[in-house]
Amino acid sequence: MRKSMVAGNWKMNGSSAFAAQMSEQFNQHAPTVSSVDVVLCPPAIYLSQVQGDAQGYACAAQNVHFAGSGAFTGEISVAMLNDIKCKYVLVGHSERREMFAETDAIIAKKMAVCVAASLVPILCIGETLVQRNNGEAFAVVKRQVLAALEDIDLKTNDIVIAYEPIWAIGTGETATPEQAQEIHAYIRSVLEAEISLEVAERTRILYGGSVSALTASELFSQPDIDGGLVGGASLKVEDFKIICSAAAN
Ligand code: 13P
Repeated sequence: MRKSMVAGNWKMNGSSAFAAQMSEQFNQHAPTVSSVDVVLCPPAIYLSQVQGDAQGYACAAQNVHFAGSGAFTGEISVAMLNDIKCKYVLVGHSERREMFAETDAIIAKKMAVCVAASLVPILCIGETLVQRNNGEAFAVVKRQVLAALEDIDLKTNDIVIAYEPIWAIGTGETATPEQAQEIHAYIRSVLEAEISLEVAERTRILYGGSVSALTASELFSQPDIDGGLVGGASLKVEDFKIICSAAAN
């Protein structure tokens, strides 16, 4: 039985006051969603603050570098995330792939350093609209998953996968529960075929892309959707609470 997870990716939004408000609200909300792992993903500058206040939720960094330390201006390392007790890291978000030129090879390196440091990477994958219309969605997600897992042993390590079709991110156009379920089931079948049934059954696969307080419940009721990675709606406290509660059902 996989425990549900709902992660709120603030992207480059928020402030110190917003971070304090979210910490307080989600510490209070924790008892009602104790069957869900609630994860807040603030910008790096607020990560230490939000992690320091965490009681009823965990934190994820939005990004990490694959090098241990050194001359990488603007980057943060896995050791720094361990230092502040941050548990999760988003790896390979489509915005980083597209705008910051992150390749499958870079993502594989990041996955490997996270796992080696006992951080749990939340691997983001998903196809563009053109790829979907060309019938390439399955091939794209398979390629992204296998490339990212190249240097890690999933039999002894946990990761989370977030399927985020790029055409659904920030567009208000959510994948239908059937469209999402179809890809999630496929991703699980790839894990079974390439690694093992145990890994396929244990690995949580989240859906992301315009998840809202209205759409969450139906999406999360699909058998292979284990929760969500939420962008815009995670900035609205009441909406994000509803989404977290939807994963508890
Ligand atoms: P939206 O929920 O705003 O579409 O963003 C999804 C996302 O990219 C989360 O990582």
